[in-house]
Amino acid sequence: MTNVRVAATDEIAEGKGKELDVKGIKIALFNVRGKYYAIEALCRHQDGSLAPGRTQGEIVECPLHSWHYNLTTGKLIDYVDGVNLLTYPVKVEGNQVYIDI
Ligand code: FES
Repeated sequence: MTNVRVAATDEIAEGKGKELDVKGIKIALFNVRGKYYAIEALCRHQDGSLAPGRTQGEIVECPLHSWHYNLTTGKLIDYVDGVNLLTYPVKVEGNQVYIDI
């Protein structure tokens, strides 16, 4: 794993996400009440980008057809069992956000 700087904290408003391309992998980075979460960006349903999805606590809703994922575990919490997105460890140093990938 490599520690990669991916954003400044002020680039992502509270409750919002941003899609990143890190080493060719699409990752959605979310700011939930000042805590940052990194998760695979593409929904397992039809590859919708989760980055513009609405968050409610640690849950993000896919903007296309409303599947819901837990940002901490990557687990889909409705419709289909056993669907999991990868999540990545996030670290904040000063005003910079890093992920391990
Ligand atoms: S693409 Fe995400 S719910 Fe359909």
